[in-house]
Amino acid sequence: MAYRLGEVILSRDTIARRVKELAEEIANDYGKDKSIVVVGILTGAAFFLTDIVRELPEDIDVRVDFMSVASYGDNTESSGVVRIFHDLKSSIEGKHVIVVEDIVDSGLTLSHLIGLLEGRHPESLKVCVLLDKYERRKTEVKVDYCGFRIPDKFVVGYGLDYAGKWRHLKDIKYVVAE
Ligand code: IMP
Repeated sequence: MAYRLGEVILSRDTIARRVKELAEEIANDYGKDKSIVVVGILTGAAFFLTDIVRELPEDIDVRVDFMSVASYGDNTESSGVVRIFHDLKSSIEGKHVIVVEDIVDSGLTLSHLIGLLEGRHPESLKVCVLLDKYERRKTEVKVDYCGFRIPDKFVVGYGLDYAGKWRHLKDIKYVVAE
């Protein structure tokens, strides 16, 4: 089946406003005394992460690191198996970590990942997701910062892809079958 772009679900302005609010929440929660390691999950969350960290005040100690894990192949179902393709550069032991993910769907990817990162003994670990497809949850995941709750429909843009395509869109759009 062929797919094409559908209507906009979240415009670039709506996303930008929410990203600012989330950054304010994070800045208030951690303050200036704590250093934070913001861990982005490649590839989708890279777009969201770079926007959100640039909204944090200059006097907060922020480090950025990335991990690449397997989630979807070319279809729309999560395998739930997390394979690490690229690991963090630095240790997170004793650090305040915020994991940044583009979307939580079944929750399988994030819950596996959280378990894995908690095994590395960070001082604290919080989760920040741009989108939450809450209706699809198969396993409970504690989301500390959430951009938007969205219905159970496939979306692309602002880092999110369908089979590698459409990550570069500024707005988030539905994908529809032709
Ligand atoms: P989960 O393990 O089912 O929670 O899947 C999370 C991953 O599924 C995300 O990191 C995305 O890569 C992918 N995903 C889930 N829904 C969508 C969508 O609507 N558009 C693009 N990717 C999605």
